[in-house]
Amino acid sequence: MTAPDSTVSTVKVLFVCLGNICRSPSAEGMFRKYVVDAGLESRFEIDSAGTLDYHAGERADRRSEHAAQRRGIDISKHRARQIEPLDFERYDYILAMDKSNLANLERLCPAAHRHKLALMMSFAPTFGDEVPDPYYGDSAAFENVLDMLEKACRNFLTHIVEKQLLSSLKA
Ligand code: 4NP
Repeated sequence: MTAPDSTVSTVKVLFVCLGNICRSPSAEGMFRKYVVDAGLESRFEIDSAGTLDYHAGERADRRSEHAAQRRGIDISKHRARQIEPLDFERYDYILAMDKSNLANLERLCPAAHRHKLALMMSFAPTFGDEVPDPYYGDSAAFENVLDMLEKACRNFLTHIVEKQLLSSLKA
């Protein structure tokens, strides 16, 4: 077994939506799956949070759990939590599912960390600018969330890998 290279720092990613029971746990689970499939698990810390505390402690919405499961993604261990001040220091990338989440994060985030905030769909802009809230929607709304997240998660991982590769070439 190869020992992890302690000189290589991890990339810390936080996905954020409103309730942390539908979109952001799905993004977390999907991104983690791509990272694991790429053999890069030791290089990432991945989590999700909501701007609301209303669902704190709950597991993901069953409709999200089932939709994710149909794509081979297990989010059954997820427990919702609200974003907290330390998250802005801790994470390198804080990706909001929609513009309202982003506006809330911008209000809460210290100026020194605001460059970490972005819209999730900024990594796949041809597929839309926001991941729509599926909570009051039908099963197609949950499938649409996953379709959008697939594009954005793939591109986001490629973006990070290319960026890390470039910086290692410059080092
Ligand atoms: P999420 O979906 O932000 O994707 O987790 C929602 C979950 C709960 C509510 C709204 C959106 N809610 O109003 O309780």
